Amino acid sequence: MSTLHVIDHPMIQHKLTIMRDKETPSSVFRQLLYEISLMMGYEVTRDFPLQDVEVETPLEVATLKKIAGKKVAIVPILRAGLGMVDGLRELIPVARVGFIGLYRDETTHQPVPYYCKLPKGMEHRMCILTDPMLATGGSACDAIDLVKKTGCKDIRLMCLVAAPEGVRKVQETHPDVDIYVAAVDRELNSNCYILPGLGDAGDRIFGTI
Ligand code: PRP
Ligand code: URA
Repeated sequence: MSTLHVIDHPMIQHKLTIMRDKETPSSVFRQLLYEISLMMGYEVTRDFPLQDVEVETPLEVATLKKIAGKKVAIVPILRAGLGMVDGLRELIPVARVGFIGLYRDETTHQPVPYYCKLPKGMEHRMCILTDPMLATGGSACDAIDLVKKTGCKDIRLMCLVAAPEGVRKVQETHPDVDIYVAAVDRELNSNCYILPGLGDAGDRIFGTI
C-alpha cells in the first residue's frame, strides 16, 4: 500500500487557508501555491540519496554531503498542475519538465486525455506528478498510467487538497505510488468537487472563473 504523507506544517496550513478563501485574488492564489509547492518539495525529496564529497572551505578540507545524482522529472497535470511547477523547480533546478493534459468531462466527471509530452529517459528518473486537486482520483490514476508506460518506476503524486475518495482510488489502483498532500478534506459533493476545498483550482490560477 502506498503511503499518504499529509504535510501539515503550520506555514502550509496558514497559506492554504488563505487560498481557500473565495475572496483571495488569482495573483495571491498563484503566489501561495508557488510557496506551498516549494515547501512540500522538501518532504517529497526527503529520501534523496546523498554522497560524500570533499570540499575545501576557507579553513580546511572537509568531507560533506551532496545529492547523489538523482534524476528528476516534474510532470504537471494540465492545467492546474502547472501552478506547482515553479516552486519545485526552484528547489530542483536541474529537473526536466513534462506535461500531461487531462480535463474532467463536466457530466461524467471522467478524465479526457488531450496531451502527453514526457522527458527522455523517464525509466531512470524519479517523477513528481503535480496537481493541486485530487478529487475522484480519475485524473491522477490516468496520469500515473501514462507515466508508467515510459518505464518510470519511482512516481510520487504531489497534490494540495485531496478528498478521501481520491486518496483511496490512487492507493487501490497504484499501490506503489506515494501521495503527498497538504490536506485531506471531508468529501466530494454531487458534482465531484471537494468540500470544503477551494473551488476550481485551474480557474483560480488562470483567472477563468
Ligand atoms: C481538475 C484538477 C484535477 C482534476 C481532479 O482539473 O486540476 O486535474 O480536476 O479531479 P479528479 O480527481 O476527479 O479527476 P480539471 O479537469 O478541472 O481541468 P483544468 O485543470 O484544466 O481546469
Ligand atoms: N477539480 C478542482 O479544481 N476542484 C475540485 O474541487 C475538484 C476537481
